[in-house]
Amino acid sequence: MERVIVFDTTLRDGEQAAGGSLNIGEKLEIARQLERLGVDVIEAGFPISSAGDFEAVRLIAREVRTPIICALARAHPDDIDRAWEAIKEAEHPRIHVFLSASDIHRVYQLKKSREEVLETSREMVTRAKRYTDDVEFSPMDASRTEPEYIYQIVEQVIDAGATTVNIPDTVGYAIPDEFGSLIEGIFKNVPNISRAVVSVHCHNDLGLAVANSLESLRRGARQVECTVNGIGERAGNASLEEIVMAIKTRSDVLSLTTNIDTTQIYRASRLVSELTGFVVQPNKAIIGANAFRHESGIHQDGVIKMPITYEIMDPRTVGIPASHLVLGKLSGRHAFKERLAELGYSLSEEDLGRAFSAFKDLADKKKEITDKDIESLVAEELRTISETYHLDRLQVSCGDRGIPTAAVRLIGPDGQVLADAALGTGPVDAMCKAINRLVDVPNVLTEFSVKSVTEGIDAIGEVLIRIESDGVTYTGRGADTDIIVASAKAYINALNRLLAAKKAR
Ligand code: KIV
Ligand code: ZN
Repeated sequence: MERVIVFDTTLRDGEQAAGGSLNIGEKLEIARQLERLGVDVIEAGFPISSAGDFEAVRLIAREVRTPIICALARAHPDDIDRAWEAIKEAEHPRIHVFLSASDIHRVYQLKKSREEVLETSREMVTRAKRYTDDVEFSPMDASRTEPEYIYQIVEQVIDAGATTVNIPDTVGYAIPDEFGSLIEGIFKNVPNISRAVVSVHCHNDLGLAVANSLESLRRGARQVECTVNGIGERAGNASLEEIVMAIKTRSDVLSLTTNIDTTQIYRASRLVSELTGFVVQPNKAIIGANAFRHESGIHQDGVIKMPITYEIMDPRTVGIPASHLVLGKLSGRHAFKERLAELGYSLSEEDLGRAFSAFKDLADKKKEITDKDIESLVAEELRTISETYHLDRLQVSCGDRGIPTAAVRLIGPDGQVLADAALGTGPVDAMCKAINRLVDVPNVLTEFSVKSVTEGIDAIGEVLIRIESDGVTYTGRGADTDIIVASAKAYINALNRLLAAKKAR
């Protein structure tokens, strides 16, 4: 069995998904879970893109010590210097430099000749190499580039010191056999290829990201770039859990292995879904709610008699809990902390204290607190880290006779107390208008949805709000047993993200 290096880019390409931005505390939580999952490389962000991204990469580099911590940089000196600033305290730092290679990108976007691209690639790898030995290079849009030119780039960047060469299917255009041939061609035509690891990075525009990745591994690639739940630009990236479980389940055909502790997959998936707000579709392979559910009588009968009749994997191998233990009013801090650890959270003492007091408040309103309640509650606590505006109080009056009215009190920057009231067509509209009078940022609300976290009339309601400003979408989430309060939290969360992005720009 040969080992495949798992390079996780949930915090970089995954976070690039429209409306998927994470705050610094959320990124650190995910990085810690990725470490428990056993990924070899965490691409923690793109430091030059914003001050927030820089800080998050720096924090992860300091705190997460086992995996390689990688920072992305365009083939530009400032990007490379900034990437190094962010990761220089990592135990194992890596700089990942990329530059477009295809004629389409070169002509319409870069306006550079092939020679210029070759020269810049070499120079920037040499620059990154001054900082660290571990340098990765990606010729962007490789799948739409003439293979001979890719061979040339790969050879030259390896000569300049690249230790990993990553071949991206940037726009998810490739077909497995074609992409596999490109990888095979690299091994056959690049004389110094044995001095680097060949990596692949596939997008899912045609739904082929995992198939393309696996075919490349069959043809010799030994690093695979992927994201938890397959989140990422447009239709997403290759999904980590699908690749890892395909390698494990079909080792008879693939003869490959990974370092992943598969029992951590479910937790990683829940955490990423909870913190990004991207819901996992029920029929999603490996971690969807229906992935191990059998509906037809014949299938149920078979599984009861012998699970392998209709189950190719044991759900326990991906960490799906056999039963959900329930906490309640009498559960103490210790039990709460242990359950958090089981769910993949490792909060600081201060955050734990806040989460525990929110848990106690919830236990007063709700008899049984399930794992999903706890996830929702901790995600709510993490969302409030580094917020500019915080909801202090909200009061609404509504009904079929009255005029919907909302009064809000916010704690603003530097602790100022701000209060106002507004009328609206309903309580949510009135609440948004009252908040808009205090937080004056033009935006349009484009999506509003409410779901209950668990069954029962006392369930927590989770609200997701998307707003748009200057063509960019910001997602906000809020959870509370009162759905109007949850809506206010979600709206403020979206506004805080908008303000943070504006400030970073
Ligand atoms: O899709 C892509 O080409 C990328 C590169 C930065 C590797 O994300
Ligand atoms: Zn990508």
